[in-house]
Amino acid sequence: MADTVVGANPDPHVSGEDPNRRDFIHIAAGAAAVGAVAALAWPLVDQMNPSGDTLALASIEFDLTKVAAGQQVVVKWRGKPLFVRNRTPQQIAAAIKDDSAPMPDPEPDEARHKPGKPEWLVLVGTCTHLGCVPTFGGGDYGGWFCPCHGSHYDTSGRIRKGPAPKNLVVPEYAFVSDTKVKIG
Ligand code: FES
Repeated sequence: MADTVVGANPDPHVSGEDPNRRDFIHIAAGAAAVGAVAALAWPLVDQMNPSGDTLALASIEFDLTKVAAGQQVVVKWRGKPLFVRNRTPQQIAAAIKDDSAPMPDPEPDEARHKPGKPEWLVLVGTCTHLGCVPTFGGGDYGGWFCPCHGSHYDTSGRIRKGPAPKNLVVPEYAFVSDTKVKIG
């Protein structure tokens, strides 16, 4: 079972949680500036979790009711941050509108989510340039912004500008109910 921290800052010092916990969840309230902190804080968070082989093959189930519309939760999965984002209708429309726009790694929005579930994005939360953690809601396209070298991702997690070569990765996952996904 995953621990949850509700708030805008994933700084482990605010959580007061058991350092032996297996998961870390962070609800990002949306401020782009917070992400820069997230990028710095992640290595600290990572050290609080058991590294190891036990996590390497793990699948996790995640309760989507934890994520309000327009918000994102970051879950620890296989030693990496995983973004679970509940998109607003406006964010979905913006992503679809740009389906035919030039981009480094062209992919339609519908290929980035499960059929009939356009509001839910599940993405590996590491920049495809050199692996920093992009900030939620930042950048020129309102998706994510990687502060390390300036990569802009759209609300589909597609790379639109900057040095990252590929879209944020969609991991293997499936809906096990209307409100729960199994990742991995
Ligand atoms: Fe993200 Fe370089 S690691 S832009």
